[in-house]
Amino acid sequence: MSLAKVFITRRLPTELEQLYAIASGTARSAIASVEVWPERQPPPYEVLLAKAQNVDGFLCLLTDKIDRQLIENSSLKVISQMAVGYDNIDIAAATAQKIPVGHTPGVLTDATADLTWALLMAAARRVVEADQFTRAGLWQTWEPDLLLGPNVAGATLGIIGLGRIGQGVARRAHGFDMKILYTNRHQSDSELEKTLNVEFVPLETLLRKSDFITIHTPASDDTYHLISDRQFALMKSSAILINTARGSIIDQDALYHALSQNQIAAAALDVTEPEPIPKDSPLLTLDNLIITPHIGSASRQTRSKMATIAIANLIAGLKGDRLPYCVNPQVYD
Ligand code: DGY
Repeated sequence: MSLAKVFITRRLPTELEQLYAIASGTARSAIASVEVWPERQPPPYEVLLAKAQNVDGFLCLLTDKIDRQLIENSSLKVISQMAVGYDNIDIAAATAQKIPVGHTPGVLTDATADLTWALLMAAARRVVEADQFTRAGLWQTWEPDLLLGPNVAGATLGIIGLGRIGQGVARRAHGFDMKILYTNRHQSDSELEKTLNVEFVPLETLLRKSDFITIHTPASDDTYHLISDRQFALMKSSAILINTARGSIIDQDALYHALSQNQIAAAALDVTEPEPIPKDSPLLTLDNLIITPHIGSASRQTRSKMATIAIANLIAGLKGDRLPYCVNPQVYD
């Protein structure tokens, strides 16, 4: 087997050392050279295109556009993405070229469910506004109606997408005695519904009945702008919307309208369309919106596990072994 060349599209946490160790190591090493893009910003598309024609493996991030043109003109034997989501990669094109694509499921479930709850609580109890209020020197006394928000305990939580992260959010809701509704492409089995104490409902019912609505469905043609004017019109005026999945699932013009007209009470986004959110976006003028910079998986332990899995997928692909976490196992048929 000839030794392989690898391009890593950004500096990774310390696990990169593992990769260097393997690359500079023994005869059983699969890797001849590792090039790491050194900048804080992602490599421009032209750089990706050129690298893809010269290396055997990519270790990439969700900010890298890996499209059909790049894939069809590449020498890639494996694409290993350090993320669970892979909507930046043309999977059909990779499959047609028999290139396995790896991702990192499972290890970021808890971190993302935690951040969802951090945003839900912060939006409900207006934590960001309260901090800004205090720092602006506006705290003069205890006031009966200062910065009021709704109860979280006992409220109804609507979960759109009951995959691993949606389930993690549901489990955390038990501590708050919430009624939990969910909607999904398919209804989960009754055993899981019982364990999680969740009720399957159509999206419209969920939107009408929930006090908190949280999105955990992947980005796809089916979920593009799933939440738009019509869906906001169905929500309670007290509803709070959370999105830690992908920005494209919410129509942001409709969100701006809903928040500025008090059609819903508040929202919190960890993901936007595009990312980063443009500095002149009208959304940034709203007090009833919290935006964080796509940090759902940003716990040290989680990022380290994601990097380790991405490296394992990469090395397996270079060796011609089956990827431990493969998005398109059809390539092995
Ligand atoms: C993912 O993995 O898809 C998250 O959005 C980033 O960690």
